[in-house]
Amino acid sequence: MSVLIKGGKVFYKGEFSDSDILIENGKIKSIGRNLNGADEKYNAKGMLVLPGLIDPHVHLRDPGATYKEDFHTGTRAAVAGGFTTVMDMPNNPYPTVTVAALFEKAALAKKKAICEVRFYFGATDHNFDEIERADPLSLKVYLGKTTGELYLRNPGSLKKHFENYKGQFVFHATGDGKTEHEQLDATYKNIAKVGSLSNRYRRSSHIAHASCGKEVTISKSFGLTVETAPHYLFLDSKDAKKLGYRGTVYPNLRSGGPESLWKKIDKIDCIATDHAPHTLEDKKNGAHGFPGLETSLGMMLTAYHSKKIGLEWIIEHMSEKPAAIFDLGRVGRIKEGFYGNITVLDLKKEWTVKGNKLYTKCKWSPFEGRKIKGKVKSVFYKGNLIFDDFSFSG
Ligand code: DOR
Ligand code: ZN
Repeated sequence: MSVLIKGGKVFYKGEFSDSDILIENGKIKSIGRNLNGADEKYNAKGMLVLPGLIDPHVHLRDPGATYKEDFHTGTRAAVAGGFTTVMDMPNNPYPTVTVAALFEKAALAKKKAICEVRFYFGATDHNFDEIERADPLSLKVYLGKTTGELYLRNPGSLKKHFENYKGQFVFHATGDGKTEHEQLDATYKNIAKVGSLSNRYRRSSHIAHASCGKEVTISKSFGLTVETAPHYLFLDSKDAKKLGYRGTVYPNLRSGGPESLWKKIDKIDCIATDHAPHTLEDKKNGAHGFPGLETSLGMMLTAYHSKKIGLEWIIEHMSEKPAAIFDLGRVGRIKEGFYGNITVLDLKKEWTVKGNKLYTKCKWSPFEGRKIKGKVKSVFYKGNLIFDDFSFSG
């Protein structure tokens, strides 16, 4: 099976050029002008052709809370948002902290997911042997309160995890506290602790969801990598108030958070959604988190249209950079030999965020009503056209 994506502006080697892409047996065979000879052709004229995006931080809730989201609905939301790889967090009601739980999760994803799902393993105060046996791609460590019960309670556990695990760490470094000041102070201390332990043990650590610029500055001063999410770049504590029960998230939306993050934008390593779907019923009862897979690229594009940031920066920080940090292999770039994961973007298409139109099971968005210019038109996953003309066929 081969397909030729013809006539688009292709993001290749860090810039846009007029190219065709030939995908054969799921992988990119060649990139160049006037390519011919494929079973099928896709006309990309007038479109931007991007690598399938990568989201290093999602909560797809499967197994354990599938009334909020599952691998099928979650990966459909991902694909509609332009993603072809997502990395799923371990804090389910039945957390991914044992080899058995990891296998069970992977089997469910294999059955239900429509794009690639990678899995984090969660760190507890006791699961050192399980981590060693699972040898996960990446270990998620919660140093503060989150959805569910998964966080380190024993202060000695952190050092022990650094001694034992040699792979990629990801930290929920958000500290607990009654006031914003207390939370931020605890967060800065957590990042500094992680930074010095990472350096002492020569480990690679990544800080999840920075909510303000100072978290970025401290992370980078220790040589850590750091992500933020669109809601921290576009919403602040005033928006949280307006959103009411919908506006709760860990870490909280900060006063002055967006301004301080935009000042540090060139220090941020990647953009993640932290897609954390909850039903509105659960939100009313205090659940924290926002869905984000279907609005992330669009919100980032609003920053491009207002000349805050280049298109190239957005694409790199949502594809190539996360692939490099998490060592994901042949994804995240349009390159010969890489998987035929391609997102076709119509940069002129205007749309308005409406929760009830989204594919996520939770059917709401903190960006409800936002007008966005630029929408994912088609997605190829391993050479198969799984999303076309702004929708799924099946
Ligand atoms: O708001 C959040 N929601 N923050 C987290 O750390 C977890 C996430 C979730 O799983 O709902
Ligand atoms: Zn999260």
